[in-house]
Amino acid sequence: MDEASRPRWTSRLSFTLAAAGSAVGLGNLWKFPYITWDHGGGAFVLVYLVCIAALGFPLMTAEILIGCAAQRSAVDAFARLGGRAWSAVGWLGVFTSVLVFSFYAVVAGWSVYSLVRCLRWSFRGYVAPPPEAFGAFMANGPVQVGLGFGFIALTAGVVILGVRAGIDRMARVLMPALFAILIYMLITSLTLPGVPRGLAYLVHLDFSAIDREAVLVALGHAFFTLSVGIGAMIAYGSYLGGRERILGIAATVTALDTIAALMACAILFPIIFSVPELEAALGDDREVSSVSMLFVTLPDLFYRHLPGGIVVAPLFFALVAFAALSSTVPPLELITTTVMERGGWRRPGAALAASGVVSVGMIACALSLGAVPWLSSVQVYVAGSKAGVLAIFDHLAANWLLPLGGLATCIFAGWVLPESTVAEHLGSDESGAPSRPARIWRFFARWVCPAGIGWILISVIRGTDFS
Ligand code: PHE
Repeated sequence: MDEASRPRWTSRLSFTLAAAGSAVGLGNLWKFPYITWDHGGGAFVLVYLVCIAALGFPLMTAEILIGCAAQRSAVDAFARLGGRAWSAVGWLGVFTSVLVFSFYAVVAGWSVYSLVRCLRWSFRGYVAPPPEAFGAFMANGPVQVGLGFGFIALTAGVVILGVRAGIDRMARVLMPALFAILIYMLITSLTLPGVPRGLAYLVHLDFSAIDREAVLVALGHAFFTLSVGIGAMIAYGSYLGGRERILGIAATVTALDTIAALMACAILFPIIFSVPELEAALGDDREVSSVSMLFVTLPDLFYRHLPGGIVVAPLFFALVAFAALSSTVPPLELITTTVMERGGWRRPGAALAASGVVSVGMIACALSLGAVPWLSSVQVYVAGSKAGVLAIFDHLAANWLLPLGGLATCIFAGWVLPESTVAEHLGSDESGAPSRPARIWRFFARWVCPAGIGWILISVIRGTDFS
């Protein structure tokens, strides 16, 4: 595919929305509120904001810049700009994408399942499922695999339609809908009695809860939530033509992602503090509550305690499903474009081949929740105490591969990319040298990001787990 025939985003706005869609996902709606709750609220949020600004934002900029400058997806982009050896970083991203998509598709499938279940409850009346239902659902192999397949098929449909008719259009429809639902839910939540305590928890600065582990969790999540470190933003950036305001776009995407995460907390914390049983349950048993909170406790709460719950419950799961879909498209697009550029395949065939590869990983994850005992109990050395394929994939990606890919990408962008490329795409002054914002970005890419990420990796090697 040469430059002239390369597809283009319909506008800068639609690229911004697509990139924001990639970032805003289960990480914002589920993982962030959960880890913020777990680490004592406001002080953790502050640490996270520093991580997002100092590491996430420069890395997002670096990926878009590399894609835009090379006009190729990750593997070819690294090779084109830095020589063949660098394409290994692109391949690492492709591999990580397969892992992330494999487990993410399973969890995303739960959101579609919950959406359908809530629609049924909203129309026919809520019947609380028996306590053992969730465990049985997790251990039901055919259902888990079926849901995962459904989600992969949905994602493949968008990717097959292509950049303009698929990804661009999806972003323009889903992202405004997603933010509209978030705003509606926030307004509903802000009428609850638990608002003062919920919001106080979010801004309460208790630094005694911030230890080394908390900082590492914040750092690792900064990568995951922005979907950086796998090269998917390189693929997206390659459909930008000419001089775009990349720093501005990356800043907007980072801000939207952060706003979505904070809104999710502002929605969920007042709910928690409005229902004494929930607050007590969360205080006692955080491990169990992380998954079942989203898919068991929350629906129960919506229908039994929240005014207008029959509307809010299906809307909430529609929100989760939309957010998940716009986050699974980029990894599949990355794998697909790699097959297209490396193998000379056409888009539909490449997308189907990519979906096939991902399906293998997904099946292993889907069956590792109790359906197949050895897949559910398998452990590998690097995963520490984690058992089961899904947990291992999650651990490998969050703790090792995203930081590793991010480290290599920063070093590449900061040290290997010529100054003229930086000046051309991030802005230049009258003499043609990189502008002041571009120079500041470069300082972060060269020094701050490698130091921060290096610290994460060293900590992981020393045994800290923050998946
Ligand atoms: N950013 C996504 C989220 O927050 C997760 C993700 C990471 C998706 C990497 C794809 C690739 O949910």
